[in-house]
Amino acid sequence: MNVYDSGRMADTLAPLGYRQIDGPEGADMVILNTCHIREKAAEKVYSDLGRLRLLKEAAEAEGEQMIIAVAGCLAQAEGAEIMRRAPAVDMVFGPQSYHRLPEMIARATRSAGTRVLDTEFPVAPKFDFLPATEGPVAPAAFLTVQEGCDKFCAFCVVPYTRGAEYSRPVADIEAEARRLVAGGAVEITLLGQNVNAYHGEGARGQCWGLGSLVRRLAEISGLKRLRYTTSHPRDMDDDLIAAHGEVPQLMPFLHLPVQSGADSVLAAMNRQHSADDYLRLVARIRAACPNIELSSDFIVGFPGESDRDFDATMNLISRVGFVQAYSFKYSPRPGTPAASVENQVEAAVKAERLAHLQELLNRQQLEFNQTCVGRQIPILLERDGRRPGQRVGRSPYMQAVHVDVPEGEIGRIVEVDIVSAGPNSLGGRLMSVNNKLEKGIATAE
Ligand code: 5AD
Ligand code: SF4
Repeated sequence: MNVYDSGRMADTLAPLGYRQIDGPEGADMVILNTCHIREKAAEKVYSDLGRLRLLKEAAEAEGEQMIIAVAGCLAQAEGAEIMRRAPAVDMVFGPQSYHRLPEMIARATRSAGTRVLDTEFPVAPKFDFLPATEGPVAPAAFLTVQEGCDKFCAFCVVPYTRGAEYSRPVADIEAEARRLVAGGAVEITLLGQNVNAYHGEGARGQCWGLGSLVRRLAEISGLKRLRYTTSHPRDMDDDLIAAHGEVPQLMPFLHLPVQSGADSVLAAMNRQHSADDYLRLVARIRAACPNIELSSDFIVGFPGESDRDFDATMNLISRVGFVQAYSFKYSPRPGTPAASVENQVEAAVKAERLAHLQELLNRQQLEFNQTCVGRQIPILLERDGRRPGQRVGRSPYMQAVHVDVPEGEIGRIVEVDIVSAGPNSLGGRLMSVNNKLEKGIATAE
């Protein structure tokens, strides 16, 4: 979501004459778009700010101004603290304030030394005020449809930094999706902290769930792939599950975090489901879409997690057969309920459990990648590879695939014979180009 938000900030800044450059050297303004989800992400911001201060001092010595801004969830949570710890920072603003950037910049530049802190939650949603994305977009684009979260998992800062759930109206999302496709997007990932809780205003004012939204977007000609992330198991409703069987554009890959496989830990996390509920849900999803694969997030070392609880997580991982996952050591976050409980797990135990868990997940990922060898898989070519003539694309399962293709194929979906598999990517040979007809280009199969 921060990638998407950064793009929208760039859209907001373009009319003021700003354009994006590759690094901070020589920049008139540097915005750090930050994350607060784990402590490590927050620490990184303070060390980056130390480096940026030196650049700013060098710019000022030459009579240039360089604005340093901190955006995102760390800014939302620790705005005043950032101002105190990092005097070189000119502007601090939370995720709900991006549309006010021009006004903030005007205040910060009008008189040197003016510092701006904007971490208000808005009365009116920012989406109404952000300018539309214009011009070329990447073949695989993001589109935020929902923000915030009302779930209050005991470990998580999101409900505090991003605020309560908000769903954008269907018409706005559809208009943005059409613009993205017109700009070159072939795949759109619908984003939200709790995306399948989507409940936006649909046609004729009724409330639409994510399943209805997906079906509507699938009607956009030229939009060949749809994904959504991140979902909560409690919010997978029948209509969304059915859409996985019925909407061919919806990719057969679902990121559905379970966090733990132990019921006592799930309860302490306030996840509102048991391990068994999750397994039953996976069975329903697979019944609707037999070729679907799943990925998840895991937290190890949540307060009170015993060896047996951890074993239950390992057991769930093999039973579901996750083909991909993100896993983390529990990181106590200020202000969240789990941070202040007594039975915290020792750092060494967390590290050991994480290593075990990642070993199993990596093995499952490699095994799945190996089952792809010998299959013919449609790949969306997204960018150039390192070698001349090589492109990197994505399979329906989000695997990176390296394939040799002639010039100018980026943005196309091509049929690829998978010939090799590694832990993190596949290698393939081009079979045919299957979406050239709409683009009016003759194709040699
Ligand atoms: N510690 C460790 N991992 C966390 N996550 C969220 N909060 C924490 C925390 N305090 C993980 C969860 C979530 C993912 C985005 O980050 O697994 O699904
Ligand atoms: Fe955080 Fe996701 Fe839980 Fe919401 S559902 S509180 S975003 S982990």
